Amino acid sequence: MKKLSTICAGSSKDLRTSAPHQLPIYATAAFTFCDLEEGMRIFENQPGAHVYSRYGNPTVEAVAQKIADLEAFGLGEKAFGLMTSSGMAAIHLALESCLSSGDTLLTQKILYGGTTELIEKLFKKNGIKVIYDDLEDRRLVEKLVNDNQVKAIFAETPVNPTLQCVDLKMLVSIAKKSNARLIVDNTFATPILCRPLTIGAHLVVHSTTKYLHGHGYSTGGAVVCSEEHFFKTKLWTLYKLIGSNASPFEAWLVDMGMKTLHLRMERHCQNAMKLAQWFEKQPLVKKVNYPGLKKHHSHLIAKKQMSDFGAMMSIEINRPLKTVQKFVNRLKLCTITPTLGETDTIVLHPASMSHLKVPRDVRLQQGVTDGLVRISVGLEDVQDIIADWKQAMVMESRSR
Ligand SMILES: Cc1ncc(COP(=O)(O)O)c(C=O)c1O
Repeated sequence: MKKLSTICAGSSKDLRTSAPHQLPIYATAAFTFCDLEEGMRIFENQPGAHVYSRYGNPTVEAVAQKIADLEAFGLGEKAFGLMTSSGMAAIHLALESCLSSGDTLLTQKILYGGTTELIEKLFKKNGIKVIYDDLEDRRLVEKLVNDNQVKAIFAETPVNPTLQCVDLKMLVSIAKKSNARLIVDNTFATPILCRPLTIGAHLVVHSTTKYLHGHGYSTGGAVVCSEEHFFKTKLWTLYKLIGSNASPFEAWLVDMGMKTLHLRMERHCQNAMKLAQWFEKQPLVKKVNYPGLKKHHSHLIAKKQMSDFGAMMSIEINRPLKTVQKFVNRLKLCTITPTLGETDTIVLHPASMSHLKVPRDVRLQQGVTDGLVRISVGLEDVQDIIADWKQAMVMESRSR
């Protein structure tokens, strides 16, 4: 008979008699071996064999593989994925795997603010030279890559918050000729609308916090790559050493979200197009940044590389800062919050939120004007979303 304390201290036995229909959460820090020989075999067969959850966990790996399968759709070969604790951890891992001290990184002038800060505060400190460009002019990009022996190009498309799109095919051809690695942040498009690996990108990163999970309960990220050798020797090695892994629970939440990703994206895109077309007709709106509109600067590029135009947009309200702030405060249905890609329509005023601490002249150079409002169009009835903006606009015209 075991003593009371021994029963308490032991782990409960797995009593399942049949395979679960849905992916279980393997909430365990480590995995056991029946003897040392089995342990040695499993240690040797990593990644993929389970030793310790920071190195790999069955729940996390299953979801990472699902993201990789989505990104590899149409590629004709397998891709390999890792799930990280956040989108920022995924970007860090991707950049760290491609760059060493003394190397040069080429990236966009306008990027998600956290990515720019990561590059400026961490990678520059670690001896990486950084060149910023809008990545639009082929000749200039070619010259920058060749003259500076660029090792990695990091591109976000469509970009946060101005929705400019970069031509992935153009970047792939330049990167291939010069042996640079192209990393694409595919958070806004999702693999439903765009699959950079199939165009020839080396790595894709995601903030799964956004559309892939899609419900706002989880923070996570992913890195996907189609080169098995690079995946095992670079990405996975850094992943387990840095400890950027997602927790099984977070991965499980992303899995649950992804079951409806294709349906959500369809509705998100439909609603966004209708809202963008409506905004175009409003005198208060000076500019609508939505790649689905023919007038948009990147419409043709978006059309070429995306199957639909996504649900992120920004508008420029033709009023001074204080008035724009009052206007946003009048919205009743739309939620003011610094995230995106969830089921409800979300509004962010960069000048008051994400770019609050960025000097005005710097943010203006990045296209973040006082009147810029970013919208993540949700899954509500689009007439209700329009009605919310309409009532805020009516109030605005009455208050003048
Ligand atoms: C395009 C893009 N990439 C990466 C990130 C960072 O993701 P996370 O907040 O999950 O770290 C964000 C966050 O908003 C983003 O918008």
